[in-house]
Amino acid sequence: MALGDRWSREATEDIQRRILDWYSVSRRQLPWRDDTDPYHILVSEMMLQQTGVGRVGPIYRRFIDLFPTFAALAEAPRQDVLRAWAGTGYNRRAIHLHECARIVCRDHDGRLPNDPAILARLPGLGPYTVAAVLSFAFHQDVATVDTNIRRVLGRSSGKPDADERELRELATRLLPRGRASDWNQALMDLGATICLASNPRCSICPVREICASALDVDALTRAPARRVAERQEPYLGSRRFYRGRIVAILRDLPSGKLVSAGDLLTRIKPDATAADQPWLDEIMRGLAADGLASIDTSQGDARFGAPT
Ligand code: ADE
Repeated sequence: MALGDRWSREATEDIQRRILDWYSVSRRQLPWRDDTDPYHILVSEMMLQQTGVGRVGPIYRRFIDLFPTFAALAEAPRQDVLRAWAGTGYNRRAIHLHECARIVCRDHDGRLPNDPAILARLPGLGPYTVAAVLSFAFHQDVATVDTNIRRVLGRSSGKPDADERELRELATRLLPRGRASDWNQALMDLGATICLASNPRCSICPVREICASALDVDALTRAPARRVAERQEPYLGSRRFYRGRIVAILRDLPSGKLVSAGDLLTRIKPDATAADQPWLDEIMRGLAADGLASIDTSQGDARFGAPT
């Protein structure tokens, strides 16, 4: 039996109605909701990749104030973009967004295309972000599948370990035509506020009567999400940790100012020795390749600055 076969046409309409009714009264107030401006949607979705809604809210508002259009963002110095992005983690996403704005202005007259194949070629847009842009900004009937939605669909269909293809198929089958934006965001809110990875709140869930897992809360709390968390490398002292610290230092330098390798080393690692130099050089090469730093060797020893 294919995933979701347990839902007849009537059952599908029932789950759609339950979730949309719930969403109409329980939806979260988020700054990018009820906004279909493609630029706003793209900024919010790039920020929300791996960063929580609560943290993104104020950064998103400030970012849109500073760079209100694709053109304003495309013309901004990269250092200013990185400063405005501070607090979301993952600086490479800011670089991708900045590049997107430049491409949209150069090739598409400052307007985000609504063609999935063109969107998928923009830097930093994977299948999830393409689907989010198409459904939220362009009202296309496309299902989004993110971590929360995977959990909601996997559990409610009774297949918490379903693979990506099965989940996409189910998400597309359940999508109420003409309501993709509300539907996708309703599933996100359900996953974020009720169908939680651990301790799901089944007793107040709008689909509890028809969910395949609602009575099996013990099984639900054996969350795959936790297995993922356990596998992650510790952040403190990791390469990502030091990359983040270096980007923060360079981002906050006065415009055009450079720092020496020695200065940078003592600022990020007070106990550093000369033996750490090759380690720093390698990190700096990586940051420069990712567009997050500049390296100046015009006066002999390398000096480092914000990306230009
Ligand atoms: N995560 C990514 N996009 C979102 C949205 N539009 N609403 C809530 N959470 C999200």
